[in-house]
Amino acid sequence: MNIQAPVKVDKAERMRRAREEAYATPLSQFHPGAPRLFQDDTLWPWFERLRKEEPVHYCTNAPIEPYWSVVKYNDIMHVDTNHGIFSSDSTLGGISIRDVPPGYDYPSFIAMDQPRHSAQRKTVSPMFTPQHLDELAKLIRQRSQTVLDNLPRNETFNFVERVSIELTTQMLATLFDFPWEERRKLTRWSDVSTALPKSGIVASAEERRREMDECYAYMSKLWNERVNSAPRNDLLSLMAHNDATRHMDPDNLMGNIILLIVGGNDTTRNTMTGSVLALNENPEQYDKLRANPELIDSMVPEVIRWQTPLAHMRRTALQDTEIGGKHIKKGDRIVMWYVSGNRDEEMFEKPNDFIIDRPRPRTHLSFGFGIHRCVGMRLAELQLKIVWEEMLKRFDRIEVVGEPKRIYSSFIKGYETLPVRIPG
Ligand code: HEM
Repeated sequence: MNIQAPVKVDKAERMRRAREEAYATPLSQFHPGAPRLFQDDTLWPWFERLRKEEPVHYCTNAPIEPYWSVVKYNDIMHVDTNHGIFSSDSTLGGISIRDVPPGYDYPSFIAMDQPRHSAQRKTVSPMFTPQHLDELAKLIRQRSQTVLDNLPRNETFNFVERVSIELTTQMLATLFDFPWEERRKLTRWSDVSTALPKSGIVASAEERRREMDECYAYMSKLWNERVNSAPRNDLLSLMAHNDATRHMDPDNLMGNIILLIVGGNDTTRNTMTGSVLALNENPEQYDKLRANPELIDSMVPEVIRWQTPLAHMRRTALQDTEIGGKHIKKGDRIVMWYVSGNRDEEMFEKPNDFIIDRPRPRTHLSFGFGIHRCVGMRLAELQLKIVWEEMLKRFDRIEVVGEPKRIYSSFIKGYETLPVRIPG
């Protein structure tokens, strides 16, 4: 692996230039959803300035359709908890900044309004009950132990590939009861389903289409097997044996499958990687954690805040309304920037600092609020907690030895690579 300059030096210079640019640009030209800001990790001063000067901002000069940015914690809460005014429906545009493009429109319950949303969500929620999570905990621990025991010492490797992807993919294979040896197909489909043309994940729209067709054919075969056999405890069987979802049309089935693959994959994967980066950028916090491993319980929600692996969710106004004194018209696109609300100076003390024993660490916005609040949040927290318990038992330190490569997206906020080394 090609090792680059140390993380801190590069970052300081990049941030200085980004701050200059963000404060020199007129607000009327702001496009905070530009994926490049997320890929370079230079989004922070742009959102800081919006929070201070125009917390509900209308962007009309982007290469995408005009959109409102809502960047303060309480305004985001207002939008997220008023589903009667702010719709998630995919036929109105869906849940991410860009309207659902043709070919991506598989309806899933995250992009539905009431009553369909709750009827479909309920079918999969038994997977995430405290009792079932207790059962999964043993498996998660065994797998974490195996993956960590097989890591090389004194050698640079990509943490994303060797740990984050592997563990979250294993979990997904269990949730779907998916053929074990083929589990990396799930990772690939997750990446491809949300990939933008410039992201480097797929070369063209046709390639993406081909791979999604493969996913569709494969999952349909599994679905037909589950529909015709006794109910089991996996996500496909739960949907196959519930009247609310058993007779879904094929596109809705595919939509829910993609939702569960992406929901359970990218988010936890990127937070796991982010936790290693955050502790390396804040060595005094790493020391505190090593001295007191019980702090894992508050470190996990803090890293979920710090990383905010889904940077935004979008809604569409169903009627004329107001947010923060701004007039919103029926049909307008509204982007709730969780990534900014999680750094709101009025809500969090020292919001840009990573503090693993922060009081009330669960007040972050990363899981959303309201009827669409993440159904898998406890599972995600459990995975992160266990992997850190096992890492602390084994390794004195995992050292980040180069810059992370970040994803080109203002929706999925995460990493393609993070070079690390475990001293032996
Ligand atoms: C919904 C974040 C892990 C499955 C959501 C939403 C967010 C989110 C922001 C939308 C909330 C809204 O619109 O108000 C996260 C984060 C995770 C994580 C930050 C990890 C750190 C998981 C896992 C699963 C999962 C492990 C399951 C396998 C879902 C599903 C929904 C959802 C199915 C749709 C819920 C609905 O529409 O009712 N998640 N998620 N997520 N998440 Fe997660």
